[in-house]
Amino acid sequence: MDAIKREILFNRIRSWILDAGALIRNKIDDPLTIDTKSNSKDLVTEMDREVEFFFATKIKKYFPNHLLLGEEGYGDHLKNELGTIWILDPIDGTTNFVNQKQNFAISLGIYSEGIGEIGFIYDVMRNNLYSAMRDNGAYKNDQKLNKLKTDLQLSNAIICMNHRWLTENNIVDRDVMQQLVRDVRATRTYGSAALEFAYVAEGAADAYIAMGLEPWDIAAGRIIVREVGGITTNIFGDEVGMLERSSIMTCNSTIHETLINNYVNKAKK
Ligand code: IPD
Ligand code: CA
Ligand code: CA
Repeated sequence: MDAIKREILFNRIRSWILDAGALIRNKIDDPLTIDTKSNSKDLVTEMDREVEFFFATKIKKYFPNHLLLGEEGYGDHLKNELGTIWILDPIDGTTNFVNQKQNFAISLGIYSEGIGEIGFIYDVMRNNLYSAMRDNGAYKNDQKLNKLKTDLQLSNAIICMNHRWLTENNIVDRDVMQQLVRDVRATRTYGSAALEFAYVAEGAADAYIAMGLEPWDIAAGRIIVREVGGITTNIFGDEVGMLERSSIMTCNSTIHETLINNYVNKAKK
């Protein structure tokens, strides 16, 4: 995608994201219909659907050649990475949305022929918009984010990870992961993959590791993190395709190797 096209698209989407956020804020205290999907903890509300429908309608009207991969089913069935693809999580952190009415985000990444072009993560209730365009850096609202530290020690790092890593699981030995928790400065769990990517991008956290994330959980975040010099791979350091479900590590590049060699590879089952 050429730079002019990218910028026009960025500005269009930016205003739609802000509109969608306002839609959510206006209805935040309305009674919610909550349904479950794959299991009793996998929640979806009419607001998740409404936000995805909002974008699906805009795409059809203004960009009929573009494709949508969305969590809630208003998108296209994609077989490959060809074309311009919008990858949308209308509400990332639905459990937080339902239980807390905060700590959730709209996450949208735009890919053209498999290349990440534009990323937006909108922390709706704090009105913080994280954004990035390819080769143009990343922003939090109007403020350009700094490149990530180049001299970070793991012992000074904050790692976002949830507690599943420390319980019996099929991927890694929990004892090794418990050692990781002891070795870092602190761990955090926020319940929204998109926000955890945004915190890595702004340097509020130094890494985020997660099991079983979907393309829409990471599509925007990986573009924003890349623009500040961070790396996103699976937890064993391999590249992740943009349409794949995978475990994910996104982090400051100075601790990427240490996390993989000293912990995750040792813990691998
Ligand atoms: C979930 C959140 C959560 C992560 C889950 C995701 P959702 O997304 O990002 O932090 O641990 O794996 O599914 O369902 O709230 O959009
Ligand atoms: Ca999600
Ligand atoms: Ca979601």
